[in-house]
Amino acid sequence: MKRTLGVCYYPEHWSEDVWTDDAARMVEAGISWVRIGEFAWSRLEPQPDVFKFDWLDRAIEVLGDAGLKVILGTPTATPPRWMLEKHPDMLAVDEEGRPRGFGSRRHYCFSHLGYRAESKRITRMFVERYGANPHVAAWQTDNEYACHDTTRSYSASATAGFQNWLAQKYQSTEALNRAWGNVFWSMEYDDFADIGLPNLTVTEPNHPHVLDFYRYSSDMVVEFNREQVEEIRKHTNAPIIHNYMGRETSFDHFKVGADLDIASWDSYPIGFLSDRLEGTPEHKLRFLRQGDPDNQAFHHDIYRAVGLAGGNPSPAGGRWWVMEQQPGPVNWAPYNPAPLPGMARLWAWEAFAHGAETVCYFRWRQAPFAQEQMHAGLLRPDSADAPAMAECKQVAAEIASLPDVGTAKADVALVFDYESAWGWEAQPQGADFDMFRLAFAAYRSCRRLGLNVDIVPPNTSDLSGYRLTLAPGIMHLSDPLRNALSNATALIGPRTDTKTEHLSIPTPMGPNLDGLDTTVVLTESLPPQASVSLENGGQFLHWREILEGNAPVKLRATDGAPAIVGDKLRYLAGWPDDATWDMILRGMCDEVGVTHHVLPDGLRIRDTETHRFVFNYAPEPLPWNGTDIAPAGVHWDAL
Ligand code: GAL
Repeated sequence: MKRTLGVCYYPEHWSEDVWTDDAARMVEAGISWVRIGEFAWSRLEPQPDVFKFDWLDRAIEVLGDAGLKVILGTPTATPPRWMLEKHPDMLAVDEEGRPRGFGSRRHYCFSHLGYRAESKRITRMFVERYGANPHVAAWQTDNEYACHDTTRSYSASATAGFQNWLAQKYQSTEALNRAWGNVFWSMEYDDFADIGLPNLTVTEPNHPHVLDFYRYSSDMVVEFNREQVEEIRKHTNAPIIHNYMGRETSFDHFKVGADLDIASWDSYPIGFLSDRLEGTPEHKLRFLRQGDPDNQAFHHDIYRAVGLAGGNPSPAGGRWWVMEQQPGPVNWAPYNPAPLPGMARLWAWEAFAHGAETVCYFRWRQAPFAQEQMHAGLLRPDSADAPAMAECKQVAAEIASLPDVGTAKADVALVFDYESAWGWEAQPQGADFDMFRLAFAAYRSCRRLGLNVDIVPPNTSDLSGYRLTLAPGIMHLSDPLRNALSNATALIGPRTDTKTEHLSIPTPMGPNLDGLDTTVVLTESLPPQASVSLENGGQFLHWREILEGNAPVKLRATDGAPAIVGDKLRYLAGWPDDATWDMILRGMCDEVGVTHHVLPDGLRIRDTETHRFVFNYAPEPLPWNGTDIAPAGVHWDAL
């Protein structure tokens, strides 16, 4: 399958006179997909039940006649102002109990049944009108679930929904009291209707109460999405996609993905580096105009796995796209540098190397008005080409001349679990314990060693295809994963299998896996200035566990306590710093015969079935196999 390019377009922002020219220029740039519609509700239904779809009919026709395929987005992330007259209590409520106001976007609560009916209604109208339209070749549900911290709402609708959800899950308040340990501090309930949301308590709420609320909130996103999917499928067989975000763990993407055909995500490498990633000031300066060299790859690999959850395996694993690709400076990060020339090309190729089918640049033309007027597009506001346009054209030409690149299966699997992220968010125990951060630290180390990684979901039952599996921080193992790990060469921990599903301490204490005789008997979290030194010269930061048991000790701390124990299946009793991760993984790769590299800071590789791709994220040329790769350079060799 050939890779393709796309672009995000807002016909409602421009006069109709320019649509034809825009479409022709898109085609000339080598673009084949155009995503439209996802914020256009106020122009389609300006008053309740007053519809103006004629302009969208014409826009689709103009784009389609030019030879473009349309991805049509349901407009439910931006309900118009009149919706609030109809449903005054539809606004999400923040953790402090304040309703979130109108005047930007995503101002709805996933639990509000009135808004859910509106979402189904407008989706139905869209698909009845365009489901059979030959130009509409894919659908997008809503836009970036969770964006602007909108998964969890502390509203009256959420309270009622949560009480119902709990009643169904536990059947009796006795069972709930037992599961949550509510005897502690006399928190017992005798009626589900008395159970509030876990906000505004005097001191911290009970962790399983919080965890169940996070589970409930995630389920509401899954249901909201599923309701749209059910409407769309009644009238079309075109694939249905959602555009997920970077570093977003507030809902279970695998569960949303199970209802969709293709996963996609919105990749803003420079915005993320400035806004959402930890890193030393030196690291952030070095990669200021390129983005973190591992962040994009990590998300590509997560969303390939989320795409696989949709049950449409391709040779590349799951079907997935980049729905929005940063083309120039964004507007929303604390600082918004411009990309180094070449990065808009590198980011696209890196996505293809990880198996993306399509990369869409966000957006076609920079808007001269409203919130995102400082956000670059492929065109400037005056319609001249912006710098990324030439790079988009170059990628298009390269796709046309390069043979197809499939994604090869990786040697290393990394288990990623959203429930664990919620568990540790509810009960971090150390201020900087964060599931994304822990999994990303392990992933980055793999990348520094030049390893190909598959991310796998927490219900994985077969790891036999991998030479090495990493499962850090998986709070509670599902039975299939427990089984699979017992037969795998794997490194688990810290914190893996140390809690029940209700976030209490199991008896016998964990981990409880066949073939690994060890128990975590004490844990300590450490402030940033503290560390535990290890006999191999490495160190643990943030977190450290004391183990008991007969598993062979592979590495000790300098105080004599075991740091890694086990044989084929090993437990890691702390959070290694970067250099220590590298030492540990290099050693395990040597044992199982996985080839690894020593890559210079910023050089990254990814193998496909047919090619080895090399990317230079560094601001200076870096050597690879006797050649120098320029900054922002992409290099590929046939394998
Ligand atoms: C995404 C969003 C787009 C646009 C973009 C700006 O989060 O889906 O609508 O806001 O960011 O970078």
